[in-house]
Amino acid sequence: MITGATGAVGTKLSSYLHTIGHQIIPVARMPRDGVIAADLRNEAAILRLVKDYTPDLILHLAAITDLNFCEQHQAETHITNYGITEIITRVCLECKTRLLFFSSDYVFGKYDHSWQEDDPPCPTTQYGMDKAASEKIIQERLTNYAIVRTAQLYGFTKDFVSLVCNALQSKQEFHAFANLVNCPTWIGDLFPMVNTIITNNLEGIFHCVGPEALSRYQYACIIATRFNLDISYIKPINLDFAIDIRPPIVRLNGTSTYKILQISPNKLQDNLHFCFPYIN
Ligand SMILES: NC(=O)c1ccc[n+]([C@@H]2O[C@H](COP(=O)([O-])OP(=O)(O)OC[C@H]3O[C@@H](n4cnc5c(N)ncnc54)[C@H](OP(=O)(O)O)[C@@H]3O)[C@@H](O)[C@H]2O)c1
Repeated sequence: MITGATGAVGTKLSSYLHTIGHQIIPVARMPRDGVIAADLRNEAAILRLVKDYTPDLILHLAAITDLNFCEQHQAETHITNYGITEIITRVCLECKTRLLFFSSDYVFGKYDHSWQEDDPPCPTTQYGMDKAASEKIIQERLTNYAIVRTAQLYGFTKDFVSLVCNALQSKQEFHAFANLVNCPTWIGDLFPMVNTIITNNLEGIFHCVGPEALSRYQYACIIATRFNLDISYIKPINLDFAIDIRPPIVRLNGTSTYKILQISPNKLQDNLHFCFPYIN
């Protein structure tokens, strides 16, 4: 069962897992073709779904993901981003269902550090705080779980790669933050990592991220170079952290996770050719 199955990640992940032979029960809030509609803030709805469909595993992706919205609507965000996880852990416990939770690099951010899986979280945003609180309740209540922390995903329409390409192809300036750093992560690396965790019943926290930390400016320049676009349209600017809520540098260290999952994710420049099909 995949919650958030109609989101940017959930759509692609459902299709990937289905293609490699998993049976998928997709769930989202709004009704769409082939998707079960349920507002998961309602405990009875989750319990009914799990009792009716008896999934082996819940992949919990559903969340409010707009960082600014989360900051401006903290109570509403908490009910969704923490509250749903809290209910799901109770239902998983009762129904003996395994849980795989999608978390984020933003459980860190207070300091610049190469964060390991067992480092204590230090979030700076409402979004990050609810992800960290969700991780905590899962660890406290469940034994049969996996927490996947990922970051800055690319590999779908309207991702950073397509934004840069579209601007440069239309000869528009692209202002890219030189002081905002994360680890861009290719969904073509993330999904096999998730599948390895599922099929081997692996437990614990995993850093399923790309191998390099890049500023948005470096990220944009690598994209322009790879697609032979005019790099002079990319203008480095600095984000004002007195106004913007995002933590400036968040670097997840994936070394231990790569070793356990026996995967070596490529650098951004080596993955970009996979993006040709969906950018204009
Ligand atoms: N995208 C990234 O780069 C990234 C990076 C790190 C972590 N993540 C994590 O990965 C997960 C998926 O991210 P995404 O980018 O795919 O998010 P997204 O595009 O914003 O999709 C969010 C999904 O959650 C569902 N949802 C929200 N509230 C719900 C509710 N009350 N009941 C049921 N479903 C609800 C939405 O369904 P409706 O549309 O029907 O409301 C939608 O399917 C999230 O947990 C996110 O924190 C993503």
